[in-house]
Amino acid sequence: MSGLNRAASIDDLRTIAKRRIPRFAFDLVDGGAESERNLRRNVEAFEEVELTPRYMVDVSQIDTKATMFGQTYNQPFGMAPIGMLNVFWPDADLTLAHLCKRENIPYVASSASSTRLESLAEAADGNGWFQLYVSSNKTVTEGLISRAESAGYDVLMVTADVPAAGKRDRDIRNQLSVPFRFTPEVILQLVSNPTWALASLKHGRPNIANYADLLQGATSYADVQKTLITPGFTWDDLARLRARWKGRLLVKGVLHPDDARRCAEVGCDGIVVSNHGGRQVAFGPPTIEALPPIAEAAGGRMKIILDSGIRRGADLIRAKALGADFAFAGRALAYGVGAGAARGADRAMEILKLELVRALGQLGATSFDTVRLPDVTKRPAHR
Ligand SMILES: Cc1cc2nc3c(=O)[nH]c(=O)nc-3n(C[C@H](O)[C@H](O)[C@H](O)COP(=O)(O)O)c2cc1C
Repeated sequence: MSGLNRAASIDDLRTIAKRRIPRFAFDLVDGGAESERNLRRNVEAFEEVELTPRYMVDVSQIDTKATMFGQTYNQPFGMAPIGMLNVFWPDADLTLAHLCKRENIPYVASSASSTRLESLAEAADGNGWFQLYVSSNKTVTEGLISRAESAGYDVLMVTADVPAAGKRDRDIRNQLSVPFRFTPEVILQLVSNPTWALASLKHGRPNIANYADLLQGATSYADVQKTLITPGFTWDDLARLRARWKGRLLVKGVLHPDDARRCAEVGCDGIVVSNHGGRQVAFGPPTIEALPPIAEAAGGRMKIILDSGIRRGADLIRAKALGADFAFAGRALAYGVGAGAARGADRAMEILKLELVRALGQLGATSFDTVRLPDVTKRPAHR
């Protein structure tokens, strides 16, 4: 598809995806909580961080590698966990897991993925990490942990920012429901997006694969929520999880320096400074603003990863300059799949890599690893 080659940015891929995907499915990925202020601020706040170019350094060779937990990746970012992504585009999960393996970057399989965690581990082939949602049912949580262990995942990323699902106004307006209902409006959207409809028909209706058996009897969204998440996940549970999981343990969804300090005390190997891509609340800080005091509080005791709002290669450098070791992109790569399946995912990756190398060159940095705080001239106004 020639449109893909003309896509110059992640935003262009988003525009193409929007044209190809029925509104209810596009909004499920594109949308954020309530007024979507946090979703917008994530992206704007990155743009407010200025980096001063430096020249007359030989930048003919630029090294973008980054090492995390003993493994060296080709890029300083990976694919964030995204649940139910096959609704956005059929087979999106496996497409991205294969991409991550090929590009040698980490792929984080979501507890709520549309593909079983075992198949994703196989596709990511040594580059897979597993994201855990703690369920209100202890047996369900333990089941996921031992399956992740058997599948060979070493890094477990437990998501802390879901005491409840976010309130996403677009999904409510689109009347997204469980079980899925074919309302006249949905049928009209399917007819207007035949490529998506045919591809989806071929792959069958996506489900939340890791819980498929448990959710068979679910008749409401509340049932699904109770199986997937719990409002009762506490610091004591995190300490128990630390004792239970022998591999690397990360907490995803840290926004306060005191929470970061506590994660270090519990013995976590890292944290993900994340606001779930602006999907949980509208009132919170963008992650690039939350990052500096958190990095200070962590004081080098753990790895700091950042996600939420990465749309440009330069955002990776901004995050690194303000204290992150690594980053995750969620929607950036997902929009690629939505724009053109595997070729679209490749294009998204190509764009981010090109932007990263170009930006490093303009900053006189021969490697991502050497980017430091003084490269930033204008920091976000954080509290
Ligand atoms: C459609 C969608 C589903 C998501 N599902 C999960 C999930 O299952 N588990 C999780 O920890 N985070 C989930 N997230 C959050 C992402 O892991 C990540 O934090 C977020 O996408 C980063 O923001 P960005 O999309 O602006 O890059 C989801 C995000 C989106 C957009």
